[in-house]
Amino acid sequence: MTAPVDLTPKATANHTPLVDTRLLPLDDAGARATHRVYEHLIGMWAPGVIEAAQDLGVFATLTAGPATAAGLAETLGTDLRATRVLLDGLHAYDIVQRERGGDGQAVYTLPASLHGVFAPDGLFSLAGKITHDRNVAWHAWRHLADNVRSGARSAHGGQQVNQISEEDYTALARGINFWAPPVVSVLADALRERGWGDETDALLLDVGCGTGIYSHLMLEAFPRLTARGLDAPRITAIASEQAARLGVHDRFEPLTADFWNDDWGNGTDLALFVNIFHLQTPESAHELLLKTAKGLTEGGLIAIVDHIVDEEAGGANVQNRFFRLFAASMLATGGGDAYTVQDYDQWLADAGLRRVALLDTPMHRVLLAGR
Ligand SMILES: C[S@@+](CC[C@H](N)C(=O)[O-])C[C@H]1O[C@@H](n2cnc3c(N)ncnc32)[C@H](O)[C@@H]1O
Repeated sequence: MTAPVDLTPKATANHTPLVDTRLLPLDDAGARATHRVYEHLIGMWAPGVIEAAQDLGVFATLTAGPATAAGLAETLGTDLRATRVLLDGLHAYDIVQRERGGDGQAVYTLPASLHGVFAPDGLFSLAGKITHDRNVAWHAWRHLADNVRSGARSAHGGQQVNQISEEDYTALARGINFWAPPVVSVLADALRERGWGDETDALLLDVGCGTGIYSHLMLEAFPRLTARGLDAPRITAIASEQAARLGVHDRFEPLTADFWNDDWGNGTDLALFVNIFHLQTPESAHELLLKTAKGLTEGGLIAIVDHIVDEEAGGANVQNRFFRLFAASMLATGGGDAYTVQDYDQWLADAGLRRVALLDTPMHRVLLAGR
């Protein structure tokens, strides 16, 4: 007889179990499946309670110090019982700690490691992501079925480039900064392996730079590098402000331009595209690489940081799982995809380029290409 598989839900950094499947019969596959899918369906509870707490100012108040539900309700002007329900929900997701105080009332604490996560001005805060989800994502996901039916095509029948408004990008921009440090660390190591160092004089072009965080961290890593951050006017203003905040403004040049219709200049040693290709159609991705190749120096490189599916890593690969769901999220919000390594290889070949490295980071792959 084979030993029963241990299906005990385990609390890990990545997953807070909400359904105790240990209480189900091991041989009832149907019940196990229903409970597992139900647990996916209640995934929407997490953004529900987190966003409500952010909206109400719960995190800002708890960043100042621990509080009881009564104390918080008074500060926030909310209903006492409902405030307790919300705090207990946050506790269920391991976001706030809950301990009994001397008088028997529960005291709620936001751990110090989470203060920056919700701070509106935090460099690696998720506040912008929360605002974006409230403005865009809840509504968009309701229309996924419609977009699957229609293919999210434009009026002319072509696939759509994902076009979030400049206003929505403004809200989102800083909310995805937290992705940058592990990506830049991997990219900088790969460049050092190719001879980059403290004395390398090079020009980085950050296409669709957002807050410019990737450029700014690269400028910190390579003291003689200069970076040009290309984006829409409202966004380059954010990038300039952040360059000053991080003390790299003397080597960061904002370039307000439309990457389709404007010239980006020549002499690029490293063209960087972070979270740009997943917004494209296959045709626009192809076009973008043709345009980039023309502006590269002889030994120039392109770094594409994106949700790049590597079929060889298999369907259970954590990155591939995330990327495939990211593609669904792009479809819900109107277009784009998670393209495969093979797609990129083909577009690169058409532009006279070839892949020289493919590197894993927690939520992206970094594809490095040259002539
Ligand atoms: C998903 S964000 C990525 C920002 C940044 N690279 C990052 O990963 O944090 C896409 C960026 O591309 C910019 N963008 C989109 N279309 C553009 C265009 N045609 N010209 C210039 N910038 C554009 C947006 O304004 C936005 O800042």
